[in-house]
Amino acid sequence: MSQKLKLTRSESLYKESQDLIPGGMMGIRRPYNFVTGEYPIFFESGQGGWVLDADGNRFMDMLCAYGPIIIGHREGEIDDAVIGQIRGKGFCLSLVQEVQNTLAKTLRDLIPSCQKCVFVKTGSDATTTAVRIARAFTDRVKVLRCGYHGWHDWCVEVKGGIPVKFYEDVTEFHYNDLAQVEDLMKKSGSEVAAIIVTPVGHPLAHEVELPKPGYLQGLKTLAERHGAVLIFDEIRSGFRVNLGGAQKEFGVTPHLSVFGKAMANGYEISAVVGRADIMDMLVQKAFLSSTFFPNSLAQVAALATIRMLQRDRVLEVIRQRGQAFAAKVRRICADSGIACTFSGEPWMPYITFDRDAKGLYKKLRPEFYTQLIRRGVFLQPFHHGYIAFRHTEKDLDFAAGMIAEAFEETKKNILK
Ligand SMILES: Cc1ncc(COP(=O)(O)O)c(C=O)c1O
Repeated sequence: MSQKLKLTRSESLYKESQDLIPGGMMGIRRPYNFVTGEYPIFFESGQGGWVLDADGNRFMDMLCAYGPIIIGHREGEIDDAVIGQIRGKGFCLSLVQEVQNTLAKTLRDLIPSCQKCVFVKTGSDATTTAVRIARAFTDRVKVLRCGYHGWHDWCVEVKGGIPVKFYEDVTEFHYNDLAQVEDLMKKSGSEVAAIIVTPVGHPLAHEVELPKPGYLQGLKTLAERHGAVLIFDEIRSGFRVNLGGAQKEFGVTPHLSVFGKAMANGYEISAVVGRADIMDMLVQKAFLSSTFFPNSLAQVAALATIRMLQRDRVLEVIRQRGQAFAAKVRRICADSGIACTFSGEPWMPYITFDRDAKGLYKKLRPEFYTQLIRRGVFLQPFHHGYIAFRHTEKDLDFAAGMIAEAFEETKKNILK
């Protein structure tokens, strides 16, 4: 038997926040994205691979702030570099600082598609910038897209408040279905400015998918045949799958790509990188500027993060641990006798419940994730998790053990 967590402080903060902020907090952090009444709503602090909620419950943090935490929370070396910049130089000046160039050179050395780059703040900033550059380069407007690309008008799922004209030229396609894109390009390829795709498929509440052999190259060939720009949205895969991004991992170099999340271990920065002649649209035709884009703190944090990723072979360690974890959890899933799937190996572990006509999965999912949160593992029912460098083998064994227990309890409670 597992105990429901004490969540009184979380709940009272939530009540207060609903009077202050629409919905209490924004979008994907609202309670209905977890299991209402079972998950904490406010966190107090994080350290390494673990977090503490507002009631003092401690969890192994396998959501990693939805992706930015690649090393761990409160990394002294990164935070010290940032504090050094605050105290030693300042970071919000009327002109750019040299660290901009240092970071740009670092990205150029690591990322195959990067001849030039620009730094913005969020993933949405970056995807929107990339699409604007592609439209300027091609003098076309249509965009084919696959994956979540953020909250901006051209791509967000929830259409309230957005005039149709802002997204009517954008068509969504399914991941790993090259024939569909071929078809779309046959119909209107001469009007398509960009094909933008997450190189790893990670649709909400569905299994994580890796590219089928030839898929990414097929997209590139189609884009080039029709004069469109291929953009990889590497906001999740960048600085996690490979230091050069999924493009390096899978050997396909897009014309433009975007990075964010793990790039600075939680500090707010994203980047658009790409072929010099395409990126130069930002000089010739398109405008990009924002008060805070050139602030240097997150640039310093990105450099410190990348230095650690390289020096401590962080991504190799995560890959090895992720593979070992996946092998264990896949076995646990099979032994459970519950119709479920483990995906996302080795970087983005996710347990999904196979959709059945009677909708049993809709009961299994909240029960399983309830059992898991009660046992101190913070994962999201509708979104894959992540493994951070500070998750030790012992931590991951703990998580696997709790997953096994959660399955047992779920069986007792739902399949009895
Ligand atoms: C693949 C992808 N692209 C773009 C975004 C948007 O990034 P942000 O939330 O930083 O605006 C996200 C965010 O989750 C993402 O996963």
